[in-house]
Parts: sequence; C-alpha cells; structure tokens
Amino acid sequence: MSILFEPTNLGRYTVPNRIIMAPMSRNRARKDGVVTDVVADYYGQRATAGLIISESIMVNDWANGMCAPGLYNAEQIAAWKTVTDRVHEKGGLIFAQLWHAGRAAHDSLMPEGRDCAGPSAIGISREIMTFQGPIAATPPRALTLDEISELRTDFAQAAKNALEAGFDGVEIHAAAGYLIDQFLQDGANQRDDIYGGSAANRYRFLNEITDDAIAIWGSDRVGVRLSPKSDFNDMHDSDPVATFTHVISALNTLNLAYLHLSERLPFVPPNPEDAVVMDALRKHWDGPLISNGDFDAQEGAAHIDAGKATMISYGRPFISNPDLPARFKASAELTAMDPATIYGGDARGYTDYPPLAEGSL
Ligand SMILES: Cc1cc2nc3c(=O)[nH]c(=O)nc-3n(C[C@H](O)[C@H](O)[C@H](O)COP(=O)(O)O)c2cc1C
Repeated sequence: MSILFEPTNLGRYTVPNRIIMAPMSRNRARKDGVVTDVVADYYGQRATAGLIISESIMVNDWANGMCAPGLYNAEQIAAWKTVTDRVHEKGGLIFAQLWHAGRAAHDSLMPEGRDCAGPSAIGISREIMTFQGPIAATPPRALTLDEISELRTDFAQAAKNALEAGFDGVEIHAAAGYLIDQFLQDGANQRDDIYGGSAANRYRFLNEITDDAIAIWGSDRVGVRLSPKSDFNDMHDSDPVATFTHVISALNTLNLAYLHLSERLPFVPPNPEDAVVMDALRKHWDGPLISNGDFDAQEGAAHIDAGKATMISYGRPFISNPDLPARFKASAELTAMDPATIYGGDARGYTDYPPLAEGSL
C-alpha cells in the first residue's frame, strides 16, 4: 500500500498522499444554500486527505439540491470561506465541485419562474428528495439556447466565487447524470442544434464551462469528473466508448489538474465489461488521473501500481473515518457508516465519527 503515501503532482499542487476525498453531498446546508459551522468542522476533520473535493455545490438558485450548498451569493461565499480557512489551518487542500442538476430535479425545489429543464425533454424515473419527501422527478422541457448561455455564465460566476471563497481549485461535475453529463450522452441529449448530435457538439457545453474555469483559475487548478458507464439518473449512450474517447481526448489537450474518473458504481457489483471500457478510455489521458469507485486500500494501491490511476478517491470510507489516511497507514479497522445519518440533519453521523485514538499509530 506504500504507493498511496507517495506524494504526487496534481496540477499546481503536490499532494502528500494519493488518498483523495471524493465529493459527497451531505445536505447539511441551510435551505438558502449557506453552509453552517458544522460543515467547517466536517471538512477540517478530513484535511489529511491528499485533496478534498467538496460535495456538489449549486451554481445558481435553480440547481435544485435540497439543503445543498450554493456559491452564487455573498453570504454563501463568506460561509464557504470559513470552511476553506479551516481546511487550510489543518494543512489540507479543497476543490469546489460545481454542479447543476438539470433534468434530475423537482419543480417544488425551484424558485419562482424556474422549472425543470435539461438538454432535451426526456424524463427520468428516479425520485428526487424534496421537503415533502421523495417524489418522482418532474418531466423536463428542453433548455433554450439563451438558457444554455445563462447557465454557462452561472458556472463561470460560481468558479469566480469559489476563488473568492478560498478554495484551491474547482472540479466541474460532468458525471452521474447531472446537467453537464446530460449534454454529453445521447440518451439524454437529442438536440439538433450546436449542442446536440455529434460527440463534438455534445461536448461543447462542458468545453465552454471548462474553458471559462481555466480563464479564472489556470488549467492547473481545474479538474473534471466523468462517469462514462454510470446508469444513475437513467443515463445511457449509444456508444460510450466513442463519446467519451472524444471527450477525454479533447480534455487531454487542456492540461487540467486532473481527470476524475468514476469507474465503478457504489452499491452494485462490479461489471467486468465496464472495466474494459475504462481501460480503453484511460489511454486517451496523459495527466494526473483520480480513479473512484468502491476501492479499499489494497485495491486502490494495486490500481495505481498497475498504472491505471495516479490517485484514488474514496467516498463512503471518509464519511465514517475522518482520518482515513492514518487508518490505511496503520492498517486499522474502519468504522462502519450509519446509513440513517448520511443525508441531512446535524452533527450526528457527520462530525462525531472518532479519529484513531491518540498514540495508536
Ligand atoms: C452520500 C453520498 C453523496 C454523494 N454525493 C456526490 C456528489 O455530490 N458529487 C459527486 O460527484 N459524487 C457524489 N457521490 C459519489 C461519490 O463521490 C463516489 O463516487 C461514490 O461514493 C463511490 O465511491 P466509494 O465507493 O469510495 O464510496 C456521492 C456518494 C455518496 C455515498
């Protein structure tokens, strides 16, 4: 497992270990998207990760996350500053994950005058968590070109706001069937304008958002997350290898800090065919690669040793093990996660998981 503890280059930074904290929504912001003190405690406790990637952060007031944090007004920016300060005090690095739900949304979470929309009027079967409980996602309408342009501006403004809030970089959330991923894959994008049709056209929205983020941050502080084989949010593509070969090859020319590849899905058995696709896709990427999905310490190290990744991001293990790198190093037993306290609520199941006892290293 020693490779996990070898420092490596991640864009502008050198990270002390290759154990990255994966982005995880915990829905503990206020209803208006302002993070509270407990969020600073939570991320501060996890600052020994090589890099923390924040939970999905809403780029505007219709990004549609219930008690998800935002980065589109001054109060939200100031509140995030307390979080980034805490992580920096503890010696860590934190990137902001910029997000919009697109069609994976419910109208009851929309502000006045907004409704559920995606690249095309193609609905999903999943339920969305609302203040009334889980409800079927609202059937979307297709975004207009003006709205696409407005969304691009919102992503750029949120990227600027992330800089003001003291983050160390941004990750563009182009995975898991949310807005940007919906543009990438033809199962969700049937547009017949410049944003639909060819893989190049479907990549256009991500390309624009990435270019804007690079203009603000420099390419070495921008990462992109993709999940080419995830069917979450009813995603599918008629030719994922061709689509994502185009996307990854194009991103590869931008000298990004990293590509974050969601390779295996949580809660479902690994699919050997997906591994073949991932191996085909990673060949088109030359820079730092963060792999994700149901890895433990040994498997993660083996994946890096096999040349398949530079770093591994861990999600669920970080929920209940704030000092995950120390645990891995000590081959200590991991604390199990309480499923009842994953989403929403307060400090319980959020900041009360204990670190290893002092001196047990
Ligand atoms: C509670 C929870 C919340 C998540 N929220 C996000 C999110 O906000 N953004 C994102 O890109 N992925 C999100 N994911 C996916 C994780 O980043 C990761 O891909 C997944 O948990 C698999 O990694 P693991 O097996 O190490 O947990 C979430 C996963 C969990 C369990």
